[in-house]
Amino acid sequence: MSKTKRVAIFISGRGSNMQKLIEAASNPDYPALIVGVIANKSDAKGLEFAKAHGIKTAVILPSDYSSKAKTDAAINKQLAEWQTDMIALAGYMRLLGADFCQKWQGKIINIHPSLLPAFKGLNTHARALENHASEHGCTVHFVTAEMDDGPIIGQILVPIQNADTAEILEKRILIAEHNLYPWALAQVASGEIVFEK
Ligand code: GRF
Repeated sequence: MSKTKRVAIFISGRGSNMQKLIEAASNPDYPALIVGVIANKSDAKGLEFAKAHGIKTAVILPSDYSSKAKTDAAINKQLAEWQTDMIALAGYMRLLGADFCQKWQGKIINIHPSLLPAFKGLNTHARALENHASEHGCTVHFVTAEMDDGPIIGQILVPIQNADTAEILEKRILIAEHNLYPWALAQVASGEIVFEK
């Protein structure tokens, strides 16, 4: 039996982290295979890259369902069709339900643009500057029902410089994210890093 984990990526927009995971997984030695991309928005830019690389895509719009539980059930159905072992959230701007997070515990990971637990939520770069932080960065962590919480898999620290604006910082941190996420997914897919509460 293959040791490669079958991974679905969830996106909402640009999908640059998704792109880096797809590129990393195109190496036959990588321990994960990207089996599909799920978006919660039909115009998510990243869908084009995924399709162009022969990856299956699905748009699952929350507005098509009467509850979060029903939306999450539709996602689970798609994941089952793809025989998914793991999920990588990559700029997926929708909170998944507690039951969904529980079902996938230890098998669902997320990337966040801050050194968690600092700056959970949105606008992390502007908030780091407002707080006169001397360092910022990015984190990949296991997903739990609490937003931007869950055990940390890896982080890259990015020093803040005097001339930084939120835009400049965002660009520098995105480069760090692109290095961190393929490494972190490989650690979890290969079993090198496992979920512990
Ligand atoms: C990234 O900064 C990621 O950390 C955050 O949302 C952004 C998504 O960017 N969760 P992209 O869609 O991967 O380009």
